Amino acid sequence: MPTARSTPNIALIKYWGNRNEELRLPMADSLSMTLDHPTVEITLETGDRLAIHSFDSDGRAKTLTENQVSRWQKTLALCRRYLATLDESEVLPEKLVLTIRSHIPPSVGLASSAAVFSCLAKAIAGLVREQITLTDEQVSVLARLGSGSAARSIYGGFSALKAGEGKEIGSSAAIQIAPEDHWLLHDIVIIPSHDEKKVGSTEGHALASTSPFYEQRVEDIRRKRQPECVDAVLKRDFEKLQRVTEEDALDMHHVMETSTPSLKYLTADTHRIVAAIKDLRTKEHLPVLFTMDAGPTVHLLCTDEAKSHVLAFAHEQKGCTIYETKIGPGSTLLP
Ligand code: DP6
Repeated sequence: MPTARSTPNIALIKYWGNRNEELRLPMADSLSMTLDHPTVEITLETGDRLAIHSFDSDGRAKTLTENQVSRWQKTLALCRRYLATLDESEVLPEKLVLTIRSHIPPSVGLASSAAVFSCLAKAIAGLVREQITLTDEQVSVLARLGSGSAARSIYGGFSALKAGEGKEIGSSAAIQIAPEDHWLLHDIVIIPSHDEKKVGSTEGHALASTSPFYEQRVEDIRRKRQPECVDAVLKRDFEKLQRVTEEDALDMHHVMETSTPSLKYLTADTHRIVAAIKDLRTKEHLPVLFTMDAGPTVHLLCTDEAKSHVLAFAHEQKGCTIYETKIGPGSTLLP
C-alpha cells in the first residue's frame, strides 16, 4: 500500500503549448525549481472498483467534480497505455482506491496539479515496483500524462522537461539539472486574488498556436533561453537567471494575450507589484526576480541574503496573501 508525497514547482522557462494535447507532449523544453511545500500525499490500494477519496488541508472530505473524476480516469488510462509500451500493461489494476491528502491551503492559489500528478506517478511506481523498477525519467512520463508541469516535480532542486520529438507517449520526459542543495533560493509568493481562473492551463495550451508570436517563442526557447537558463542555474548566476526568467515569463504572457481568444491572466495588481519590485531592486541592488504562471500571482525568487527584505516588501502589498516557500527535495515514497 504505497504512499507518496510531492510538491508543486515554479517554472523559470514556462511550458506553454503542446504538439499533442491528449498525450501532453510539449512543443518546447521547460525548466523549474521544485518547492519544499505545500505537500500532497497519495495512497494507492487495490479495491473492488475505482474509488477516489480526496481530503483538503483541514482534513475535510472533498467531493470531486465530474471533470476532475474524468481527468483522473483519463490519466490512469494513459498511464496503463504507457506501461504497456514497457511491456507491463497489466501491472496497474483498473480497480484502484486512491486516497489524496492535499495540504495546499485553498487561499494560496498555488497550482496543485503539478503536486498531485507527480505524487500519483510516484505512488504508481511504488505500487508496481515488485514487477518493474521504473526509472525517474519513466516516472516523470507518468506524471506528465496527468499534468505537463508535474513531470518536473519528480525531482528535487532544478529540473527540465525535455520536449523530445515524435508522437510516442514516452517521447517527452523530465531530467534533473541540479539537486536541492545546489543553490538555496526562496520563492515568496504574493497572491492578489483568489478568484478561480476562467481558462485553465489545459485549455490554454490548446490556444497557444493561435498567437502569431508562438512560433518565435518556441524557436527562442530552443535556440537560446533554455540553454541560457540551464547555464545560469549551473553557475548560480542570479543576474543571468533573472534576465532570462523574466524575459520568458513576459513572453509567455504576450503569447497568451495575443492568442484567439485572448487570455489575460495578469491584472493591475500584478503589474503594480512587478513595477514596485523592479524599483526596489534598482534602489537596493537586491537579488530578486519575478515570474507569473497562468494567474495574477507573483512569485518572487530570491537568494537567502535577500529573503528578509523581499518578505518585508511582500507584506507591504495591501490585500494580498503571502506564502513563503523554498527549493525542495521532489517527490518521495513514504516508508
Ligand atoms: C503556465 O502543467 O498546468 O504554469 O498539463 O494542462 O495540467 P496541464 O498544464 P500545466 O501547465 C503549466 C503552465 C504554466 C507554466 C509551467 O508551469 O511551466
